[in-house]
Amino acid sequence: MAKGERANFGSKIGVILASAGSAVGLGNVWRFPYETGNHGGAAFILVYLGCVLLLGLPILIAEFLIGRHSRANTAGAYQKLAPGTQWRWVGRMSVLAGFLILSYYAVVSGWTLEYILQAATNSFAGKTSADFIASFQAFSSNPWRPVLWLIVFLLATHVIIVKGVEKGIEKASKIMMPALFIILLVLAACSVSLPGAMEGVEFLMKPDFSKVDGSVFLSAMGQSFYSLSLGMGCLCTYASYFSKDTNLPKTALSVGVITTCVSILAGFIIFPAAFSVGIQPDSGPSLIFITLPNVFQQAFSGIPVIACALSVLFYILLAMAALTSTISLHEVVTAYLHEEFHLSRRKAAWLVTGGCTFLGIFCSLSLGVLKGYTVFGLGIFDLFDFVTAKIMLPLAGMCISIFTGWYLDRRVVWGEITNDGTLKVPVYRAVIFILKYIAPVIVSLIFINELG
Ligand code: PHE
Repeated sequence: MAKGERANFGSKIGVILASAGSAVGLGNVWRFPYETGNHGGAAFILVYLGCVLLLGLPILIAEFLIGRHSRANTAGAYQKLAPGTQWRWVGRMSVLAGFLILSYYAVVSGWTLEYILQAATNSFAGKTSADFIASFQAFSSNPWRPVLWLIVFLLATHVIIVKGVEKGIEKASKIMMPALFIILLVLAACSVSLPGAMEGVEFLMKPDFSKVDGSVFLSAMGQSFYSLSLGMGCLCTYASYFSKDTNLPKTALSVGVITTCVSILAGFIIFPAAFSVGIQPDSGPSLIFITLPNVFQQAFSGIPVIACALSVLFYILLAMAALTSTISLHEVVTAYLHEEFHLSRRKAAWLVTGGCTFLGIFCSLSLGVLKGYTVFGLGIFDLFDFVTAKIMLPLAGMCISIFTGWYLDRRVVWGEITNDGTLKVPVYRAVIFILKYIAPVIVSLIFINELG
């Protein structure tokens, strides 16, 4: 996208790909499995699916319509649609959330680069799961290496944002997203056929409702927003580049279905393998990095060349999926600084990259040398994740639904959702009802329950 003038996406598929590119990322393959593992498996997934349907999709449509109608960055959007009101704080909170998420997301993105290197140099060969755990711990707590990868990843994102070569990335993701999906399918099949894998499948499919408590709801809600890239103005900013005849509800549904399928598929890779090789499902953020190398090792033990090639390919695709997400995060903050403070795009982008590098270094070090420094019992990395995913995103989502349901002129909402009456949207009334009543009530109840 050229951002100097407000460009439009070239094609329908471009719209879906860019939005899905933002949505599909580490949130699906890395965060979803570890949240599922931390919260007991199948029951968490059910609550998560409920959140996607009941909160995520309607709010996604709302975010799209705010972006397309205002044709501005997320903070500017509220100033345009509700001039002189406090609504602009919702946009600002979204931008801040994007900035904070990018800071720690880039750390994990950097880890994928390390794993590309490890896979390519065949360092997984002959290792056991205990070795994978030890080597991940050694790597993530090393003060230099992860920081170096973090910087590399942020610079790659920076260059793409400044050079405006997202078009190329969009084109590439036409191939890479399906490729990632296929490789995930292959890995899931491998994982499920490992000895003892059925226990993991059960973990994913047999809900144990005794494990459902307030924190499950908070986490599932947070994960649904995170995974859809909601509440951060990403999709609002992207929608500001949509054309007049983009079908918003259909695009939202496509994004929702794609990202949910990828998450579930990731679950079917991680848990069967984790149970098979004896890794605890609640191992936290390290889960995929200690589990996946086992899948490559065990499933292709007889054919090491394939194990090596497949693992390299997988981590490259994962890094690319992370890149399309970091681009969208970076874009939100850059577009905000550029349009609201009249900085050049180049300067704005440098500020974002510099700021995220600074914070990212602390996030990375908090898993090693700064481990002892905690706030509310959480290290910096976990704190950033908690505050953004579990508080800021749902809060912003709730504000977006109230803004659309109660504040915005109904004709504007109707015009955007139905493209001025040219689309039949049978769920129109349901979407409005959810935005007005259901979403604000559910999000508030989950917050109250957790705080109380
Ligand atoms: N949805 C992305 C993922 O699942 C993460 C993300 C969140 C990206 C918010 C952009 C904005 O990886």
